[in-house]
Amino acid sequence: MYHEVYDAGLGAWYDQLFPEATAEETVGFLDGALPAPGSAIEFGVGSGRVALPMLRRGWSVTGVDISPRMLGAFEAKAREAGFGERVRTRRTSMAEDTGLRGYDLAYCVLGGLACLPDPAVQAEAVAGMLRHVGAGGLLVVENYDRDFWARSLTTSWTGLGEMGMRDGVHTASLRARLPEADVLEMSYEIGDARGPVDAFLERVRLTPRDFVARCAREAGAEDVRVLAGWAGAEGAPSGSVVTVARRG
Ligand SMILES: C[S@@+](CC[C@H](N)C(=O)[O-])C[C@H]1O[C@@H](n2cnc3c(N)ncnc32)[C@H](O)[C@@H]1O
Repeated sequence: MYHEVYDAGLGAWYDQLFPEATAEETVGFLDGALPAPGSAIEFGVGSGRVALPMLRRGWSVTGVDISPRMLGAFEAKAREAGFGERVRTRRTSMAEDTGLRGYDLAYCVLGGLACLPDPAVQAEAVAGMLRHVGAGGLLVVENYDRDFWARSLTTSWTGLGEMGMRDGVHTASLRARLPEADVLEMSYEIGDARGPVDAFLERVRLTPRDFVARCAREAGAEDVRVLAGWAGAEGAPSGSVVTVARRG
């Protein structure tokens, strides 16, 4: 399963590869999506890159994640920060119904939805996320546009270059390819001054640009907008697609 890498290689390096600073735009968008902080549920919360800044801004956050390693890291950080009862967690798949309801905001960002390898399960998961939102609340989902990536990755391996590693010791390089239609495979290599330290592969399931919008509308959402990334315009091409839907 695609998520297993989060309990192994990628999970061990996640916070250095994707520190909280990389979530600034996402957090700004989510926090500004409603007039005041309220209750949020994050599907695929990981180690809290987005949830922790949301908590600091006054939101209550329920974090859902299938990975014991990632969810455990989030729980430890939230405990240490003393957020108390404003934090809840559920270790389960985002494709399962937690039974929780009435949130002001449900969201799933970065590679969360793409971790589900089956498009039918992705569609069910989007409908399920919307069920967690109360009337008038918002669902925000980031997905990856398969046509954009098919145009971008024209050779068998395409270097995406060096990633910034925040521990000051390690370097990370990332290469990506499309081994089959709609599947993006990312190969990470971690090194230090003496040479290679770790290597692992992450696979994600890409979706048509309007996939989330279609699923949300079929599940009864209103005012559905599809944006080019967190700062993007409606209709512009982009690798990252942000869909915002209101529950009627
Ligand atoms: C790319 S990370 C994103 C983490 C966090 N949202 C962030 O922005 O940093 C994807 C997360 O989704 C989780 N995940 C993968 N498959 C999942 C599933 N079926 N149900 C719930 N969480 C899942 C992984 O364990 C991982 O923590």
